[in-house]
Amino acid sequence: MPPIDGLKVVRSEIHGYGVVTLNPISAGEVVVYGDGIVYREDDDFDDEYSLVLAGSDDEDDEDPVPLYFDLTDQTRWINHSCSPNTEVDTSWDPETRIATAWWIALRDIEAGEELAYDYAFSAHLAMPCSCRASACRGVIVDESEINQIPARLKPLLRTRKTRRRRA
Ligand SMILES: C[S@@+](CC[C@H](N)C(=O)[O-])C[C@H]1O[C@@H](n2cnc3c(N)ncnc32)[C@H](O)[C@@H]1O
Ligand SMILES: [Zn+2]
Repeated sequence: MPPIDGLKVVRSEIHGYGVVTLNPISAGEVVVYGDGIVYREDDDFDDEYSLVLAGSDDEDDEDPVPLYFDLTDQTRWINHSCSPNTEVDTSWDPETRIATAWWIALRDIEAGEELAYDYAFSAHLAMPCSCRASACRGVIVDESEINQIPARLKPLLRTRKTRRRRA
């Protein structure tokens, strides 16, 4: 797969490998379209590099099976931040069975900056966060599910109150 123009995979200060932009990007711009392979939730696949698609396999089904998009290009390495500079959007067309994912800049991004988005994991998938943002929640989790994370992760939480006290 040819490298995506303007993006580079590097060792990241957040975690493992990450992705930096080689060019400045303006707020609101589409940063990149990601390629991938679609899986149903009940398939045997590795969900670590997958996005949950907005849509399901059989929308007429009363209990539709969620779909995942296992990223296969450089977008696979984009890390999570609690104070992200991009957001990801997805679409799924059940007729053509084509999935699309794209990242949009939430603010101006300088050349050399690491790209990140908010993974917003469900509470049962929550994990410790090392995003280094001053607004880091301490745990990768959707803000609305923060109260439902497993007890073992609760000591890692950095609430708004504790963040203010530390500042
Ligand atoms: C899509 S991969 C991102 C690429 C990853 N850095 C790597 O080198 O494989 C997602 C995984 O990266 C790790 N990760 C990403 N952002 C993180 C963060 N802010 N804090 C801790 N781990 C993170 C988690 O293990 C997560 O399951
Ligand atoms: Zn964080």
